[in-house]
Amino acid sequence: KKPVYILGIESSCDDTSASVICNNKVQSNVVANQVIHSKYGGVVPELASRAHQQNIVPVVQQAIEQAGITKENLSAIAFTRGPGLMGSLLVGTSFAKSLALGLQIPLIDVNHMQAHILSHFIEDDGKKMPPFPFICLTISGGHTQIVKVTNHFEMEVLGETIDDAVGEAFDKSAKILGLKYPGGPLIDKHAKLGNPKAFQFTKPKVGDLDFSFSGLKTGILYFIQKQVRINPNFIEENLNDICASIQYTIVEILMDKLKNAVKQTGIKHIAIAGGVSANSEIRARLQLAEKHFGWTTYIPKFEYTTDNAAMIAITGYLKYLNNDYSDVSVTAKARLKV
Ligand code: KG4
Ligand code: ZN
Repeated sequence: KKPVYILGIESSCDDTSASVICNNKVQSNVVANQVIHSKYGGVVPELASRAHQQNIVPVVQQAIEQAGITKENLSAIAFTRGPGLMGSLLVGTSFAKSLALGLQIPLIDVNHMQAHILSHFIEDDGKKMPPFPFICLTISGGHTQIVKVTNHFEMEVLGETIDDAVGEAFDKSAKILGLKYPGGPLIDKHAKLGNPKAFQFTKPKVGDLDFSFSGLKTGILYFIQKQVRINPNFIEENLNDICASIQYTIVEILMDKLKNAVKQTGIKHIAIAGGVSANSEIRARLQLAEKHFGWTTYIPKFEYTTDNAAMIAITGYLKYLNNDYSDVSVTAKARLKV
């Protein structure tokens, strides 16, 4: 059988990424991070689309080179159609369309949130793939969802955030503490040296399998403001403990909802995906859940947690096997459901 080479292109937010996979094995996964946003405390859409425009050609060229092939070997081109920032999506979408037209090969549109979940089907030595049905907690800078995955393309959202995403909760808390964007990884780093029980933050009361993080953020803001009035050096003196306590609270919220999801569905195969699944505490807690609750957990490799094109390429491969191609009239969509 002829090997299938898929080029994946991701440009939904602030990372420009391209990846080549051969069947379900990653050959290259090039990510150009846009550092420009860190000084603004968040992603500036206009700057993001311009940076994509600059990065996309070299990133795609590198991905093809690193895979040891030429563009003539490609079987199809998969790209992120949405959800994401419109100006960013348009760069990847237009580029993918042009390249597919030029090479006269199929074009495949990919839903970014489905791709985070399907990154679990990248073949990687020693990593087990989740069997259907499984539950996926998708946690990123833009989304927080509990998804029941019945097969590769049949997914049902059982619960989601009613306000901020969990990544935003990390990033906004970090901003309050004066840490740079994106603050999630920095909170994780400081939390490793702190006491998670040092400070208590109230967990939100929200029904069923839904999430809410805006109240927590406000609670953290008021707490910090109050403490700083008493002691101007409060943050510097307690940074590790504050980070550990915030992270502990957020991970408790996520674990509580996962436990509810298991109770409701009876499904004990639990996966995590998305940028926040890089968090060391959620990874550790899931591993403990194998022992304590008899769950089987699926934790992605670090490089497939935050935005990357390998997840777009694997989704493209699975769609390719189904002959599920898109027409060149396909357009980017800022809002797109799983
Ligand atoms: O999936 P992703 O790269 O982009 C979106 O689709 O949103 O997720 C980015 C989010 C950011 O909010 C970032 O702070 C968070 O993932 N993140 C983390 C960690 N690494 C990335 N949050 C907590 N702990 C981490 N180690
Ligand atoms: Zn993402």
